[in-house]
This record gives sequence, C-alpha cells and structure tokens, in this order.
Amino acid sequence: MENPTSYDLIILGASGFTGKYVIKEALKFLDTLSSPLKSIALAGRNPNRVSQALTWATHPNPPPPIPILTADTTDPASLRRLAAHTKLILNCVGPFRLYGEPVVAACADLGCDYLDICGEPEFMERMEAKYHDEAVDKGSLVVSACGFDSVPAELGLIFNSRQWVSPAVPNRIEAYLSLESDKWVVGNFGTYESAVLGVANADRLQQLRRSRPRRARPLIPGPAPPKGPIIEHQKKIGLWAVKLPSADSVVVRRTLATLKENPCGLPGVNESAKQIEKREAFWPTVKPAHFGVKIASKSVFGIIRFIIVGIFIGLLGKTNFGRWLLLKFPSIFSLGWFKKNGPSEDEVRSASFKMWFVGHGFSDSTLAAQGNMKPDMEIITRVMGPEIGYLTTSIVLIQCALVLLSQRGNLPKGGVLTPGIVFGPTDLQERLQENGISFDFISKSALST
Ligand SMILES: NC(=O)c1ccc[n+]([C@@H]2O[C@H](COP(=O)([O-])OP(=O)(O)OC[C@H]3O[C@@H](n4cnc5c(N)ncnc54)[C@H](OP(=O)(O)O)[C@@H]3O)[C@@H](O)[C@H]2O)c1
Repeated sequence: MENPTSYDLIILGASGFTGKYVIKEALKFLDTLSSPLKSIALAGRNPNRVSQALTWATHPNPPPPIPILTADTTDPASLRRLAAHTKLILNCVGPFRLYGEPVVAACADLGCDYLDICGEPEFMERMEAKYHDEAVDKGSLVVSACGFDSVPAELGLIFNSRQWVSPAVPNRIEAYLSLESDKWVVGNFGTYESAVLGVANADRLQQLRRSRPRRARPLIPGPAPPKGPIIEHQKKIGLWAVKLPSADSVVVRRTLATLKENPCGLPGVNESAKQIEKREAFWPTVKPAHFGVKIASKSVFGIIRFIIVGIFIGLLGKTNFGRWLLLKFPSIFSLGWFKKNGPSEDEVRSASFKMWFVGHGFSDSTLAAQGNMKPDMEIITRVMGPEIGYLTTSIVLIQCALVLLSQRGNLPKGGVLTPGIVFGPTDLQERLQENGISFDFISKSALST
C-alpha cells in the first residue's frame, strides 16, 4: 500500500464514469465543519486514470492532495490492503456480477463496511447467501443498491406506506418512473452491460432462490392485486407506463421480508436507549404492500420504444451471439439510450426524474378482511431529483456513507443487508432532501369501489 494511514472511506473504481461523479460529490463533504468525513482515498487498477478522474472532479480548481491507491479486483491481496486501511469502501466497479465478489469477500473477512451502486439482483442475493453470516460475525456492514437503484424506491415506498395512518392500510403501491430532460440523455455503457448480463444470468438467480429456504412473506391486507394491462394509462399523473424489470422491486421485497422477521427492525451495534425507542416506534408505522415499478412516459410512443428495447435485450441477451451484438452496438439496440462513452456533462445537468408512488388500500383495515373487497382509498406521493445514473446515484451513495460514518452505533453490527432496512429509520431521507432529492405528499382520495 502506497500510504499506510487509515481512511474514513475509499472510493474503488474511482476512474469509472460513475466513480468520477462520486468523487465530485464526496469532496463537497470532505473535512467540512460538521462532516464525519475527514479523510478519503481513491482506488483503481490504473492510478493515471484515477488521477484524471480527480482532476475532472475538481476542475477548474487544482486537485487536492488525495492519496491514490492501486487495487485490482483480480488481485485479492490488493483489496485486502484497502479493507485493512479504511472504515468503509464505496464500490463503483461494475458489472458487479463480474467484479464485485472479491471486494465483498475482503470486506466481510476484515470487518470493513461496504456500500455499492449495484442494480443486479443476482449479485446481491448471491452475496447475501455467501457472506451474510461472516459479515455479521466480523462486524462488516455490506449494503448494495445505494444508488438510484434502489434507494428512491426503498425510501419512497416507506414514505408512501407511512402516510396510511391507522385504521387505513395500503394494499398495493406502484411506482411510476418518469425521466425528464429537454435534451436527449444517454446512459453509460457500464449500466447497459450490467443489464444485458442480468438477462443472460436470469436462470442463475432462479436456481439460487430455489436452493435457499423460502423467507416468510409479509402479511398484506386485502386481495392480491390484479395483473392489469401490459401498457397502462395512469390518468391521475398523466402518464403511460409499462413494467420495468429493475432491481427495485426485488430489493424492496427483501427489505419487507427482513421486516417481517424483525418487526422492530435490526438493533444497532451500540444503540442508546433513545435510539432503541426511536427505531421501535418507526418500523411499526411502515406497512407492507405489494410493490412494483413501471417506466412511464407522457406519450404511448415513448412506452413502445421501451418495449422494443426490452424485447431486444430480453431475446438477444439469452445467447452468446445475441449478447455480442447487443454489447458491440449499444446505441442501435438501445435505440440511442446507451452509448459507449456516456452522456455529456450538459446532458447530465439537463436531466431529472420523478418517481410517483400510487398507493391503493383500505380506509379501514377491517374492510380488507372482508373477502374480495376492492381498495377504497388512494394515496399518491412522489420522489423527485436530478439525473438518475450519475447525479442522484452519487448523492445517494455519499449520503448513505455519511450516515454510516456518523451513526455507526445505531446501525446493525454487520451482515449483507438492503438499504431500506439499514437506513430506513435514520435521517437519510432528510439528508437527501437537503441535497436536492425531494419526498412529497401529493394527494389522498377515496376510490369508487
Ligand atoms: N445504482 C445505480 O443506479 C447505478 C448508477 C450508475 C451506475 N451503476 C452501476 O455501476 C457500475 C459502473 O458503471 P459505470 O458506468 O461507471 O462503468 P465504467 O465507466 O465502465 O466504470 C467501471 C469502473 O470499474 C473499474 N474496473 C473495471 N475492472 C476492474 C478491475 N478488474 N479492478 C478494478 N477496477 C476495475 C474501471 O477501471 P478503469 O478505469 O481502469 O477501466 C472503472 O473505474 C455498473 O455496474 C452500473 O450498472 C449503477
């Protein structure tokens, strides 16, 4: 190791498209008055590229003297050196199914905390199956999906579900994601590659799930929601929508399963009596609901584009030749949504998202018990913020890191866990609001049954 000091956090994969935005966000909080972030190092397999990313992140100012460490995911010893010299690793090296496991293994073994921006359910569930017990034992908190995938969905669901004040209960909360910009905004190749490999490995996820004991499902009042049409017109929010097979609903389901097993959440490693009281008061106000995510657009043609790209990735992603085609010509097969060298800074600045949470449920839980009663109440909330892939993701990751560094005693000792169960009862939502990601109550109304 070039520098044997201990750091508060190390950003691994700092030279990547997302990594450089994460550096920029982290530097806003480095050694400021009330920040717990006093020291930081950057790591990557190519120190020159990491140094260029640092220069980009501080431009037009000269880069500060931040240590740059060499680490390659194919070299476990280099990862162990990182984990031994920091409290926390922020992993931005993806696709995670290819590169993530050695980093989790090093952190779990050395009791180092780990957050990443993964959106790949198979990786997350495989890490849980393999490393949870060791991470609990060694005191390593391993939390994937601390980016746009899946913190807005996790906290957004919790926010909507807490608006259902007893005796009202939610039955189904559907999130509608609308991406907005006056420019055409593309995504970087890294995210596209992760999605293509996700389709290719869908069978592995099914196998993994079959090999593990079934977790108890949360008790959701009322009937299971009907399937509904493939393309939905959500008149209340003026959007057309189609199911988005992102990681969000899987991550939320894991959070709700953990909550079912631990109705008052997970105890912190060193909680005060006041904090225990706060946590135990918080979780019972979170009511489980069926959850799904849809990608939405103002026009039905926008939705047809999403469906065409979904069909390309879904069909071609299953064969070697198809994957080669998808990865060789990202722009063609994503109909211009992804490019090898990602969006320009202007495009990123111009973009924003709105995630509408439309909750349907019962004004009184006793109604839900009456057989096939249809929901009679609707609550709409919204999470809104800047561009998803690079701005929202780096804001979310850094705020999760700051919560972890400042409130470690209130968080579980260790384990491979979801962001909702770890950060739900903390001040993460307030912190996101202070940094440009808002949570709004929109409306509450009666539904005709
Ligand atoms: N959660 C979300 O919403 C969200 C948002 C954005 C991105 N992501 C995910 O983040 C991941 C990265 O995306 P990206 O667009 O930033 O990709 P990228 O630009 O290709 O960056 C990948 C990074 O990984 C590094 N890397 C690759 N192989 C490595 C190895 N063997 N050892 C050490 N470092 C290695 C690269 O280093 P070099 O510079 O040396 O090549 C680079 O720094 C993807 O999985 C993507 O899906 C998630």
